[in-house]
Amino acid sequence: MTVYYNDFPQSDRDEYIKMINLDELEERAKKVMPEGAYYYIASGSENEWTWRNNTVAFNHFQIVPRALTNMADPQLDTDFMGMKLKTPIMISPIACHGIAHQDAEVATQKGAAAAGALFSSSTYANKSVEDIAAAAPEAPRFFQLYLSKDWNFNQMVFDAIKKAGYQGIFLTVDALVSGFREANLRTQFAFPVPLDFFTRYQGTKGEGQTVAQMYASSAQKIGPEDVKRIKEMSGLPVFVKGVVCAEDAYLAIGAGADGIVVTNHGGREIDGGPATIDMLPEIAKAVDHRVPIVFDSGVRRGSHVFKALALGADLVGIGRPYLYGLALGGAKGVQSVIEQLNKELLIDMQLTGCKTIADIRHAKITNINYTADNLRSNTDPERIKPYPVTKENQLKAGVTDTVSGASHL
Ligand SMILES: Cc1cc2nc3c(=O)[nH]c(=O)nc-3n(C[C@H](O)[C@H](O)[C@H](O)COP(=O)(O)O)c2cc1C
Repeated sequence: MTVYYNDFPQSDRDEYIKMINLDELEERAKKVMPEGAYYYIASGSENEWTWRNNTVAFNHFQIVPRALTNMADPQLDTDFMGMKLKTPIMISPIACHGIAHQDAEVATQKGAAAAGALFSSSTYANKSVEDIAAAAPEAPRFFQLYLSKDWNFNQMVFDAIKKAGYQGIFLTVDALVSGFREANLRTQFAFPVPLDFFTRYQGTKGEGQTVAQMYASSAQKIGPEDVKRIKEMSGLPVFVKGVVCAEDAYLAIGAGADGIVVTNHGGREIDGGPATIDMLPEIAKAVDHRVPIVFDSGVRRGSHVFKALALGADLVGIGRPYLYGLALGGAKGVQSVIEQLNKELLIDMQLTGCKTIADIRHAKITNINYTADNLRSNTDPERIKPYPVTKENQLKAGVTDTVSGASHL
């Protein structure tokens, strides 16, 4: 079913999603979302080179399987900033979840909480921080800050998130202006659903504003002294989100940051910049365990999560895939996306003898340059080869192939 906010169609689904992998959700979401909303999520900036390479570059690192590990039953639970999480996968902050579902961030928070994952809410959320918190009062959550030029606005935000029990701030520093996102221009995208903090502060709702206009209202000038000021005003730990090199990791820690987020905004800001996974090793070396590292951009597989953890991340965020999950299944769809990654990650842990998330930090990773950079499996609908269906080669319903593990489902 679809409900409407003014003329804008929103999903009201609440169902688990069956999937083979996260990639297929992009095509499936396209069928249930308006064009402008879909492309706002799916696209990157300029030629989308960085966006594409974010995922492809995971192939620059290889996970070495380990033998005779005498290990079974790996566990995904992990501690982060004193929070007990059931998975190292995090919901990265994304603006305006109302373009994917009528319950917007409230549904996403519910799905994240059901999976025991850390949720982070954008300054440009549709729902209020109080409603999001009430959706899962015991669940851990962070808040992403687009610093405003207007410090009264910032103070209002700090007071609200602190009261609502948010445990920390991701200060976004990589989006001082919007990247040149052609898709938004082609579809003339403007935020179709009101953004809560703008409604409550200035009554202007944010609704009907283009992405570029929204960014223009936030600060274009952010320096190390702002980290300190935000910490003092909010009384919360502050992570700097948007670190892509060792120099900036030093700068952020020197400015008093409690952690850093290694991200290039999912390839939506500078195009032609490096994939984040390629920069993680030098950043991890510079940070040297002084503060936690959150990583995101391009993560679509359990093996990507594994590689990021092995290369120095403490938590690994996902962006676009959970928004597709939200459109396709509401809170349960978000949960399904996290659980799909959990499932793949557990296989990698078993095959490398990693019993815990902490063990993954000592996993053996190689960095061999291969020429065949092929992300798609042979069962991908776009490359699937015609397969002869005969009476003999079909499994009976419910039967599992004991050799390959493939089941009829
Ligand atoms: C539609 C969309 C909106 C986003 N909005 C925000 C935002 O409001 N604040 C922010 O810090 N990052 C934002 N991001 C970036 C994400 O937090 C994250 O860094 C990125 O999505 C990770 O890449 P991935 O989508 O390839 O997983 C947004 C990303 C997308 C796709």
